[in-house]
Amino acid sequence: MDNYIETLTQIIKERSGRLGRPLTCQVTTFGCQMNARDSEKLLGVLLKVGFIEVTDDDADLVIYNTCTVRDNANQRVYGRLGALKPYKKKNPDMKIALCGCMMQEKTVVEKINRSYPFVDLIFGTFNIFDFPRLLCETYERDGKVREIWDKTDIIKEDLPIKRKYSFKSGVNIMFGCNNFCSYCIVPYVRGRERSRNSEDIINEIKGLVDDGVVEVMLLGQNVNSYGKNLDEDINFAKLLRKVEEVDGLKRIRFMTSHPKDLSNELIDVCASSEKICRHIHLPLQSGSSRILKAMNRVYDKDKYLALAEKIKEKISDISLTTDIIVGFPGETYEDVLETIDVIKKVSFDNAFTFIYSKRTGTPAASMPDQVDPETVKKHFDMVLSTVQETARMRTGRFMGGEYDVLCEEINATDPSFIDSRMSTNTVVHLKGTPDLIGKIVRVRLTGFHGFYYTGKLIDRVL
Ligand code: 5AD
Ligand code: SF4
Repeated sequence: MDNYIETLTQIIKERSGRLGRPLTCQVTTFGCQMNARDSEKLLGVLLKVGFIEVTDDDADLVIYNTCTVRDNANQRVYGRLGALKPYKKKNPDMKIALCGCMMQEKTVVEKINRSYPFVDLIFGTFNIFDFPRLLCETYERDGKVREIWDKTDIIKEDLPIKRKYSFKSGVNIMFGCNNFCSYCIVPYVRGRERSRNSEDIINEIKGLVDDGVVEVMLLGQNVNSYGKNLDEDINFAKLLRKVEEVDGLKRIRFMTSHPKDLSNELIDVCASSEKICRHIHLPLQSGSSRILKAMNRVYDKDKYLALAEKIKEKISDISLTTDIIVGFPGETYEDVLETIDVIKKVSFDNAFTFIYSKRTGTPAASMPDQVDPETVKKHFDMVLSTVQETARMRTGRFMGGEYDVLCEEINATDPSFIDSRMSTNTVVHLKGTPDLIGKIVRVRLTGFHGFYYTGKLIDRVL
């Protein structure tokens, strides 16, 4: 690995010497937090070998880290790729690389080879650790490198990483998914579950804290099955206990938790913890037991409702958020009413609502009764307006109270405000200066604006 980093450093130095300027790079992430974390690894390598980061599309190296969970993510990549072609014509030194989930699909790579042959490098989710070598080859062979694996057991621990935020970070605790929800392509493009050793995770978190991180987000497709393939005697709740013990770490988040195996032990750990944030993302997908069965979700409406109730009862102030799919094959108006019933009963703080997207190769793609787009749109609007109404009511419960928030960034529309987050993940805008960023402060919530608050700084906590 180090050899390739060294070779790359030489290549980049030689090229920038020839051009009389540093080489620029741009990494664009599509999709989830896992991809965002992967992009930090790509950028870590690039900065280490001498690139400078830019946001423009005319960089010397453009990488799209793609997502394929829904078709609109794929379409966005094709759109962006088409727009890159003129830049590449203007700058013959430019290199374009594609990686991530979409590249694990054979038909996608075929299409790119056919319609976007100017793409220099394609790799997948399983060999991202090999990025330094792949990029070396791309420069040495002047393009046309394609290397996609269909599985791996390798968990590489030592890639350099460039974090987007200095004070918070994602931490992978596992990769892949074994659940095979019938609509979902993730198990096919990210492979089977592989957990990292707890020692590696804890060491990574200690290193992050030494480097100024106060909040970590533990990442996995289903964190509740953490540890199942390890020899260690560990599960997710036990891992959380270990993470809690890391001195200097202030906040712990995790994502995503499958309702089928969220344990009582986990609820107890969250309830008694000072560091674990008051937020659980608990994807519902549908409120209809019939549809949940067809989705292979392994819980039904009543089980979900009981679980949500138990969590709310045991963890004070908890915020629950969710994902919902509308338009799964065979979904009727009555099924949608069941989903709406769950939304009203649970009263989520936020819900991400998606239109079902047919993914080739998944069981749902060949199910009969695919719902026509017009009906789906009608149902989607019904679900969305319910979500908006209930989330507004639920999130407003904190108004007037005093809470700790982590200051995250300067507000995009009014730079005299800082965007911050409560433990519940609720956003608070507060009047303040950039030196607050990365700090946890105490605020009084003075205004509620539907899904976020404005607040007044009371005190610095940290
Ligand atoms: N169509 C629509 N939404 C999907 N999701 C996963 N697969 C699909 C699909 N084929 C949604 C689920 C999941 C979220 C990450 O994406 O709601 O929780
Ligand atoms: Fe997809 Fe289900 Fe795995 Fe989530 S748990 S990644 S929805 S298969």
